[in-house]
Amino acid sequence: MENNRRNFLKAASATGLGLMAANPFSAYAQTPDEWAQVHQQATRPRVQKFNMSGYAAPKLETVRVGFIGIGNRGMGAVERMNKIEGVEIKALCDLRAERVDKAKKLVEASGHRPDTYIGTPEIWKKLAERTDLDLIYILTPWAFHTPMAVFSMEHGKHVCVEVPAAKTIEEAWKLVETSERTKKHCMMVENCCYDFSELLTLNLARNGFFGEIVHGEAAYIHNLQDYVFSKNHFYQLWELHEMYQRQGNLYPTHGLGPICQVMNINRGDKMEYLTSMSSNDFVLGNLAKELAAKDDFYKPYVGKSFNGNMSTTTIKTNKGRTIMVQYDVSSPRPYSRIQLVSGTKAVGLKYPEPARYSTGHEWMSAEEYKALEQKYLPPIVKKMGEVAKNVGGHGGMDFLMDWRTVDCLRNGLPLDQDVYDAALWSCIAPLSGWSVANRSNSIDVPDFTGGSWKNNAPVDISMTKGGTTKAKV
Ligand SMILES: NC(=O)c1ccc[n+]([C@@H]2O[C@H](COP(=O)([O-])OP(=O)(O)OC[C@H]3O[C@@H](n4cnc5c(N)ncnc54)[C@H](O)[C@@H]3O)[C@@H](O)[C@H]2O)c1
Repeated sequence: MENNRRNFLKAASATGLGLMAANPFSAYAQTPDEWAQVHQQATRPRVQKFNMSGYAAPKLETVRVGFIGIGNRGMGAVERMNKIEGVEIKALCDLRAERVDKAKKLVEASGHRPDTYIGTPEIWKKLAERTDLDLIYILTPWAFHTPMAVFSMEHGKHVCVEVPAAKTIEEAWKLVETSERTKKHCMMVENCCYDFSELLTLNLARNGFFGEIVHGEAAYIHNLQDYVFSKNHFYQLWELHEMYQRQGNLYPTHGLGPICQVMNINRGDKMEYLTSMSSNDFVLGNLAKELAAKDDFYKPYVGKSFNGNMSTTTIKTNKGRTIMVQYDVSSPRPYSRIQLVSGTKAVGLKYPEPARYSTGHEWMSAEEYKALEQKYLPPIVKKMGEVAKNVGGHGGMDFLMDWRTVDCLRNGLPLDQDVYDAALWSCIAPLSGWSVANRSNSIDVPDFTGGSWKNNAPVDISMTKGGTTKAKV
């Protein structure tokens, strides 16, 4: 089996994406030699070619968009972009005709006339090669994110790519190097950075409420048992396949992104090293067996070595802060991204909800929370919060993110999340995999910014510029 895998790896690297499309699991380390390569990628020194942090691309009056991947998440993105002024939806792509047809009908009702790209694993390249698009929005399974983003930037397009943007450290480097070379934005659309509660915490941090930030905790704890084994939820059960090919903290960005913004990671501080530990799997293997006893469809999943149920990563930053990130999508637990921000003067905690703050021994009362919220609600939420809630998408944060991204592009402003954030937040997965495979030893976190983290400006939470784009609601 190992020989087959090695032959496959060789063939995959020789033929590139074509074969990756057939087997998206080509890039995982499993042997000591392969782990050594991961370590090498993580510790590789680098000189930055061009700084994409704070980079403002030329203004676009109209943002001409093409979508690749119109599954669960893609349809939502099409619906949201359909409601933003100054967006022209020009191209839609998915393997499945029915998804594209549905999205096409939806946007045609608002006057868009998109071309469609359907049916073959590489037809998306035709969309990316067009010369009349400004932005490509990628919402496919994880394995295709980096290849599609790199190809799109190479063909002159800005990119919005779903989380995680990269699955391997090598892919993360590719994103950084391509974005710098092409001067195209590569924004990983980490929507949780636009959750109203996370934005309030960020604004409080900027206003000194927490004092010096010391420690943050983040997580993706979401019971996905039913979804990952469903025959209909994820296209060809792609997320279940991810869960037996790899070990570690596979989906770190939702919890981690907002904590990094609070700590100004890549913009004044940087991650130095991490260590990670995973439990064994006590759930998924048994579920596969139970399902296979009733339905032959699940027999291929019996005996697979599933990722441990709980993975915990701890990170040390250059300024001496610590971050904990957990991942558990298979235990029967209520949803949580934790979102703990602990400083020298105060602490904030979002989960279990309601969110709360404290400056001493007791949590604030609901009234005190309300007063704090009224005083420190950031301008973006004041301006667009109600509209975003009405449009929807995880309580409004999805719309807020898309609106803000389009507004930045139309006003020639830097995007809130750059390629260094995409690379860094995504690469926690492969780095944690290395640590788990190596008895939780520590591994360096690459500095994707090549040293520019020392001077990069923090995210503009005050929205000092822009805000001119209207919602079509
Ligand atoms: N930010 C969030 O809150 C959030 C929530 C859910 C999912 N996601 C992310 O969104 C992405 C998509 O997840 P999903 O739940 O929509 O999955 P999905 O399986 O519903 O959708 C994926 C779509 O990609 C299409 N596709 C696959 N290969 C393709 C190819 N070569 N060319 C064109 N289309 C192709 C499939 O046909 C499918 O419609 C994932 O990366 C996931 O992690 C993010």
